[in-house]
Amino acid sequence: MTSDAVAVTVLGLGTMGHGMAQAFASKGMIVRGYDESPAARDSLTDRIRRNLTEFVRFELMSAEEATAALARITAHDSVEEACAESTFVVEAVREDLTIKQDLFARVEDCVAPETILASNSSSFCISDSGSRLRHPERAMVTHWFNPPHIIPTVEIVPSPHTTEQVIQTTLQLHRRIGKLSIVLRQELPGFLVNRVQVAVMREVWDLLERGVASAEDLDAAIRGSMGFRLAALGPLSIHDFGGLDVASVVYRVLCPEIRSDTVLPKIVQQLVSGGKFGFKTGAGFYSYPEHVAPHVLAERDENYLRLLKLFHASQTDISVENP
Ligand SMILES: NC(=O)c1ccc[n+]([C@@H]2O[C@H](COP(=O)([O-])OP(=O)(O)OC[C@H]3O[C@@H](n4cnc5c(N)ncnc54)[C@H](O)[C@@H]3O)[C@@H](O)[C@H]2O)c1
Repeated sequence: MTSDAVAVTVLGLGTMGHGMAQAFASKGMIVRGYDESPAARDSLTDRIRRNLTEFVRFELMSAEEATAALARITAHDSVEEACAESTFVVEAVREDLTIKQDLFARVEDCVAPETILASNSSSFCISDSGSRLRHPERAMVTHWFNPPHIIPTVEIVPSPHTTEQVIQTTLQLHRRIGKLSIVLRQELPGFLVNRVQVAVMREVWDLLERGVASAEDLDAAIRGSMGFRLAALGPLSIHDFGGLDVASVVYRVLCPEIRSDTVLPKIVQQLVSGGKFGFKTGAGFYSYPEHVAPHVLAERDENYLRLLKLFHASQTDISVENP
């Protein structure tokens, strides 16, 4: 696949889909999108234009490149029209297994035999979401992170049926658009990153529930320690530098202490049952009154974009060899 020849389809143009479309188009690919909601289709260009304006402001691309990227993206009125000429189709529709299964079955009927199919599901393996595919060997999960046009990692999670050629083509496609892509060697729920995130989340929520620190202090402490280090080094490297002798002792002492059950902490149960889902409902651990919400979101993206610039500049990973 050369980028000139690549036409990509993104199905579902919500929070994730519009940013994924932007990421592909920014690196020269033709992107065709479809969403069952006319509002999502109609607003696609404006949403991506706003994101691109920020990329230009942070000197991550030129104004000309942004204009060209936008011109490569079109929204279509049907799945069939959006998919017909693409060599790679990725779905980012609602996290609902039946919807994804129906969609994949429909997509397979309207694409060429060599077209690769991918799911951006956060939890369903392709063996489940693609269970009705006649050719499961051409499908896998490609798991992006929100906001997808900014966060570098995309996890590629094949099923036991996915061919090596499909895996390698997908890996190269995502690397070509500048994504830090890795392939998992096993298909497992939560893939890789979400399993680690949930482990951290469980302890953070427990500490908050027990009143060990305020939400503000908890966030600040983690940002300035784990977060700071993790932006520069992976967790395994960090412990190599700290010393595995020390880490082993800490592990043995603390593992029996930290939370290990599977019950959702009450503090989160209460927020959710009270309709406090976080930013999108105006309140979660913090409050986001309507008049400040747009500024908070802009500030989040500015912080991410600053990090992205640093991340690109420091792509000289400390050179290490696997044992
Ligand atoms: N939001 C995140 O942080 C995040 C991160 C990683 C992965 N994901 C995954 O990405 C997918 C999309 O999540 P999102 O946050 O963008 O959701 P979203 O609700 O913002 O967008 C989903 C879009 O899919 C559309 N849709 C629903 N059914 C459809 C169908 N049959 N055909 C076409 N369009 C349809 C909806 O109209 C909506 O615009 C989910 O599988 C989710 O688990 C989300």
